[in-house]
Amino acid sequence: MKVLFLAAEATPYVKVGGLGDVAGALPQALRRLGIDVKLMLPRYGSIDPGRYAMTVAMHDFPVYMDWRQERCQLWAANNTDFFVENSHFFGSRSSAYGHDDDPERFVLFARAALEACRLSGWHPDVIHAHDWHSAAAIRLQWSAPNRAGLVFTIHNMAHQGLCSNNNWPLLGVYDAHGNLNLMEQAIYAADVVTTVSPTYAHEIQRREYGFGLDGLLRQRDQRLVGIVNGIDTEIWNPATDPILPARFDRHHLEGKRKCKMELQRRQGLRVDPDAPLIGVVSRLDDQMGIRLIVESLGDLWAFSNAQFMVLGSGHDAYENAFRSASHYHGDRMANWIGFNNEMSHLVYAASDIFLMPSNFEPCGISQMIAMRYGGLPVVRSTGGLVDTVPDRSQPDGVGYRFDNYDKGAMLHALSRALRDYYDKPAWNQAMQRAMTRDFSWGTSARRYAEVYKWSCQLAHRHL
Ligand code: GLC
Repeated sequence: MKVLFLAAEATPYVKVGGLGDVAGALPQALRRLGIDVKLMLPRYGSIDPGRYAMTVAMHDFPVYMDWRQERCQLWAANNTDFFVENSHFFGSRSSAYGHDDDPERFVLFARAALEACRLSGWHPDVIHAHDWHSAAAIRLQWSAPNRAGLVFTIHNMAHQGLCSNNNWPLLGVYDAHGNLNLMEQAIYAADVVTTVSPTYAHEIQRREYGFGLDGLLRQRDQRLVGIVNGIDTEIWNPATDPILPARFDRHHLEGKRKCKMELQRRQGLRVDPDAPLIGVVSRLDDQMGIRLIVESLGDLWAFSNAQFMVLGSGHDAYENAFRSASHYHGDRMANWIGFNNEMSHLVYAASDIFLMPSNFEPCGISQMIAMRYGGLPVVRSTGGLVDTVPDRSQPDGVGYRFDNYDKGAMLHALSRALRDYYDKPAWNQAMQRAMTRDFSWGTSARRYAEVYKWSCQLAHRHL
């Protein structure tokens, strides 16, 4: 089976958020199942062809955009990873997103990817597009003769590629009324729509989480599937992680204490391996529930002896709130504003409790990494957090969940965790359960393979 896999970001080439991790790892897991997956990305200025020994796979070819032509080129990093080049829209700009003409840029990306396949004679059985940036490919293929199975994956309903009416001609549509919403078009046209957890698949059919597309998603309910993401269990393995000052596994937890003390030392926290350490590795914005954390700091200093370490960047107000808390409570509160890969490994390894009070969370990746590193998550019951973190009140429980998006509910869950922390035998058992959970991509990749077959049947395509 041949699959064209389209995304705006994928590790190691370009990563802005969780989509980059998924689009980097899932194609590899699918290839291990024998599926011929070709990944295509735009070649942003930040992707250096020299660094990945890229060669030109296809010279200058025309791509039609409404009445005009754009010239594109295709780079290949190997037999499987390809990049659409166009200097005006991609090469001359280093960042992936945030340009006024993003809708136009990503329609060009989708058109160029389809055109490159056509010109090279490589006809995919399935087109698998991720988020609104590659949604146009689904809509454009929809009416093609003898078309591929069309699978569209939603990573985040908050970003839909909503743009004005005069963008419709980019899709070859000249009589449309109203604005163009690229994600909506793909949800409508795809044979199967997937999203990154079963709970999120239900949630987005409700008004609170659907961002205006809940009605359409309810209509497509029979074709909507939730598949939880995996993590890269080679990179994220505390037993072999070369970045950590000490390694550990579920039978040898001494290394985790060492990691905690190392973090305390480096960040100026009081060095005490017995003090519970709460870790946060996150974008500092409203989706991630950072407001609840900021509002709770005072209570935490008053009612617990917990220490707090925050790593991430985002809204100024949140960054400043953490800076100021570190200033006044330096022995208990530390932060690293920005992103630092090495520090992120250390925070996961050092944390006893991992806090993720997301307002909404399609899947979430950090909570899985935290569990693999022996941190018990405190999470809001939403999206993938429900599917990956069973509550300690259940027999196999590993974490602490709360329902209402408010400070009191979060503090209640945190206080349960802090109380349990001192019951060492029970805490260690929960840690061991957390560390043995299977977060590898294998299971999820098999589910995608089933979805691919189903999409081919729905498209009347014989494999
Ligand atoms: C988005 C979602 C996150 C998910 C990721 C990968 O970033 O916000 O929950 O884990 O996509 O699917």
